[in-house]
Amino acid sequence: SWTSESFVESTVRELREKLGDDRVVLGLSGGVDSTVAAVLLHRAIGRNLYCIFVDSGLLRKNEFDEVLESYRDMGLNVKGVKAGEKFLADLAGVSEPERKRKIIGRDFVEVFNEEAQRIEDVRWLAQGTIYPDVIESCSVNGPSATIKSHHNVGGLPEKMNLKIVEPLRLLFKDEVRRVGRSLGISERLIGRHPFPGPGLAIRILGDVTAGKVEILQNVDRIYIDALRAAGLYDKVWQAGAILLPVKSVGVMGDERTYESCVALRAVTSTDGMTADWVHLPYEFLADVSNEIINKVRGVNRVVYDISSKPPATIEWE
Ligand code: XMP
Repeated sequence: SWTSESFVESTVRELREKLGDDRVVLGLSGGVDSTVAAVLLHRAIGRNLYCIFVDSGLLRKNEFDEVLESYRDMGLNVKGVKAGEKFLADLAGVSEPERKRKIIGRDFVEVFNEEAQRIEDVRWLAQGTIYPDVIESCSVNGPSATIKSHHNVGGLPEKMNLKIVEPLRLLFKDEVRRVGRSLGISERLIGRHPFPGPGLAIRILGDVTAGKVEILQNVDRIYIDALRAAGLYDKVWQAGAILLPVKSVGVMGDERTYESCVALRAVTSTDGMTADWVHLPYEFLADVSNEIINKVRGVNRVVYDISSKPPATIEWE
């Protein structure tokens, strides 16, 4: 039967045989999948693994710096690239979800390629693709693929002629986490909720601006910290906040306000293909809502998403 220990042992052996002394480049996203893929490859080939971590400016608040530091602590050979301004400039005025995804996917590839080309003699591109990514990207396996383009599959730098290596391709998320634990990766990293490649851009409905990103980062931070503090974070498969393109009237002191509305989302799932909304305690929601409205300028209303997938999706775009 399958155990994470034997998976690690046999995969490390296979990777060594396959890769020999070749150099491999891998894009880290901060997520569980690419992190586990990196540590597995690092165990197999050490410094011949070159990691690139692109900051799209669309990550959670402070995430880039915090995660970069933990990658370095794990001994990974990682180059961090701050490219937030490029992403924001290219997204300016774009509202349509799939166009946002395409732009972000293209920007990631561009920034990544520019860095990858500096690595001499690199032969392989490693990816943290897992089984649900393979299914959701493959239209013969159902309608889901045509609904959203997931940019974390594909995007190979063509002219570099790299071969692909995907050590997690046959695993589900829970198996990836088990593998990560047997590799000694910290619970804080392993237990993290999934986060979409296009980041907060697809949680800002409508066009994306620096100001909206900042508002959403602040809202999200309060929500996620509160989930952790209440011991709810690990009971939820994925949570996040969505900034709606809606303004509504509120009152603050004796002033009338006309400001943005955010939706909070929390779901349980095993693989993201189906999901149920989580019955978070009313008291918890009340406290979080108050904290958000009191602390985040520009938000005067909080709603909670009570839709399951299907027919709703986890993300709003
Ligand atoms: P949906 O919204 O399709 O989400 O129910 C299912 C899972 O996929 C994530 N997601 C994405 N991940 N690129 C990604 O890497 C994307 O464009 C993307 N869209 C959705 C979502 O966060 C959830 O975990």
